[in-house]
Amino acid sequence: MEENVRVEVVIREATAKDVEQVVVIEEKSFSDAWSKAIFQAELALPYTMFLVAEIEGLVAGYIIVEDIASELNIMNIAVLDDFRKLGIGGMLVEAILSYGKKNKVLGVTLECRVSNTSAVALYKKKGFHIEGVRKGYYSDGEDAYIMWVKKKKIILAVETSCDETSCAVLRGENELLANEVYSQIDVHKLFGGVVPEIASRNHLMKISEIVESAVSKAGISYDEIDLVAVTRGPGLVGALLVGLTYTKALAYALDKRFIGIHHIEGHIAANYLSSPELKPPFLCLVVSGGHTHLVDVRGYTEFKVLGRTMDDAVGEAYDKVARVLGLGYPGGPKIDRLAKEGRGTIEFPKAKMDGLDFSFSGLKTAVLNYINSARQRGEELNIPDICASFQEAVVSALYEKTKKAVEQTGYKSFALAGGVAANSRIREALHFEGVKSYYPPISLCTDNAAMIAAAAYHYDEAGYSSPLFVNASPSIKIGESFAEQG
Ligand code: KG4
Ligand code: ZN
Repeated sequence: MEENVRVEVVIREATAKDVEQVVVIEEKSFSDAWSKAIFQAELALPYTMFLVAEIEGLVAGYIIVEDIASELNIMNIAVLDDFRKLGIGGMLVEAILSYGKKNKVLGVTLECRVSNTSAVALYKKKGFHIEGVRKGYYSDGEDAYIMWVKKKKIILAVETSCDETSCAVLRGENELLANEVYSQIDVHKLFGGVVPEIASRNHLMKISEIVESAVSKAGISYDEIDLVAVTRGPGLVGALLVGLTYTKALAYALDKRFIGIHHIEGHIAANYLSSPELKPPFLCLVVSGGHTHLVDVRGYTEFKVLGRTMDDAVGEAYDKVARVLGLGYPGGPKIDRLAKEGRGTIEFPKAKMDGLDFSFSGLKTAVLNYINSARQRGEELNIPDICASFQEAVVSALYEKTKKAVEQTGYKSFALAGGVAANSRIREALHFEGVKSYYPPISLCTDNAAMIAAAAYHYDEAGYSSPLFVNASPSIKIGESFAEQG
């Protein structure tokens, strides 16, 4: 039959009358053909779909699919030789895929001979992936590819650990459908820093609106959500509880899986959203308002802390210096901007720490002393120079330890994470020979729920979940958040 002949193909349910023709196609197609009795039995099974492709009264192909536990298993598919070029196999598969979509099944799977390259190519074109091999599956001993099209899971995540109320919707591994962030900075800056009680109240006032807006921006309905994720710690306990309580109620009402995520692991996972090619293992420097950690990311759910600050976190030092300079809260972005106009000529002492640990309180105190003495002497402060010098001292400490960790681990990938990873000078300076550096866009560096969704994706893949009685955990350790969930 010529390829350009236009014929009408009807895909319909098989009846007993079709079996005769189906058996002929089956016997022409396979050496280990199913018998007539099997096809007749399949017609009667309640969980089996048996479709035929009919052309002008003739059965040209068929497909048999089992619908088990929300998964469709294509058991048999064949097309009469003369009709293969018409794309009938593809149409039969499409009919099953659209049935699957309509009925929100979790996946469609099939086995295919490894030697049948044209069939493998057809299935790949329809969205199937090879997920494994079944050894000696066919009666002649040939292996089968196990192929799947899986529904991409939809994750709704909430983050309320500090002063950002955020909700994100993620489809699959890294398709970000929405990432709503309400920052309370304007409220807290009146007090020069985050006031925990005010943070909790503001989360409470905003959370419903932010979640609703994320769901509407994502263009999904609540029943499409597969997993509800939330930051469980570390953070301000009152603030954490708002997100935790809200998402527990949501997961319960929607009858969805629920998972509590470590905030810092979320910061690390933000990199997977912006750089899908980044895969563990790699080295990560986490720099935020509360953390300064060098982390060996051994797997998506496996972390080893190689070094940490013994006192202040980098973000804390930025905020403190900015406060004394009268720059307001949060100080990081302001120092970053002013440093560009200054020269790093003031020598502040650097902490001498063993191994891969950091210390920033000495530097912070030195900068504060410098500012106070200058003020006492009545000298005018050169704020851009102070910012640039402080920043250079921070960058040099971060660079030195990170370089050591890069050499120690031998990893070829390095990632930055956390609010301070938004810093332009740190992003520019932390590069190492033979190592690829990654950092998320600024919107994914500072607190947001997208990063929580990204971390949740991988924990869920690995089979983790949280009970609805899980509590907020303000000082939980990296890599240990699933060890105790009581
Ligand atoms: O990760 P994050 O949003 O919240 C915590 O988990 O702590 O980090 C907030 C910190 C603040 O200390 C803020 O000053 C700092 O990140 N930060 C910056 C910059 N943008 C935010 N620090 C230096 N340079 C920046 N551009
Ligand atoms: Zn953070």
